[in-house]
Amino acid sequence: MHIDIVSCVPNLLESPFAHSIMKRAIDKKILSLELHNLRDYATNKHKNVDDYPFGGGAGMVMMVEPLANCIEYLKSKHEYDEIIFFTPDGITLKQNIANEFSLKKNLLLLCGHYKGIDQRIRDIYVTKEISIGDYVLSGGELAAAVFVDAIVRLIPNVLSDETSALSDSFQDQLLAPPVYTRPAEYKGLKVPEVLLSGNHAAIEKWRHEQSLLRTKERRPDLLQ
Ligand code: ADE
Repeated sequence: MHIDIVSCVPNLLESPFAHSIMKRAIDKKILSLELHNLRDYATNKHKNVDDYPFGGGAGMVMMVEPLANCIEYLKSKHEYDEIIFFTPDGITLKQNIANEFSLKKNLLLLCGHYKGIDQRIRDIYVTKEISIGDYVLSGGELAAAVFVDAIVRLIPNVLSDETSALSDSFQDQLLAPPVYTRPAEYKGLKVPEVLLSGNHAAIEKWRHEQSLLRTKERRPDLLQ
């Protein structure tokens, strides 16, 4: 998978991809990721990428030209499956959406900042608008990092234990069961006996029951 990310603060996105599973995906060449600084595509001498909103009001709006120049340049290099803009008014990211995007080959991600981007960029170029939840972030960068992490870990061979993505919370509309490691007892709290039994069928049954119980208690909406 190839992902281009456009941002006016690309440094914000360096650390999330420089460690752990995302770094491993890049090292294994399963993921190629390029960060693009929007300021490099600014057209005026001050390298401005934002301007005052028509009609007045607080906050600045990201201008059409730098974004359009950058998108046009990148489109000449890659054929994108989707051009995604991160915004609180987009569709909410859920596991089924992550599953769907994990199958794509080329993605262009646009991160807004300030009050948002000029609507014409959304009208002309954007093919999907995604929100990571009903709250407002200062920019789309953290949303883009969350999105990329959620989709890349689903690509085969990114996780070392292939089955572990399948047993994640939400993958079957259930929350994941509790997990334990050594020691078998800590401050009087014992690991459930069944997990020490070596009986795989009994362990699977217990895990499924715990998943159901947890989902009923914490997210009954998932069981509807
Ligand atoms: N930009 C600002 N807030 C956001 C959110 N909740 N999801 C995606 N992008 C955003």
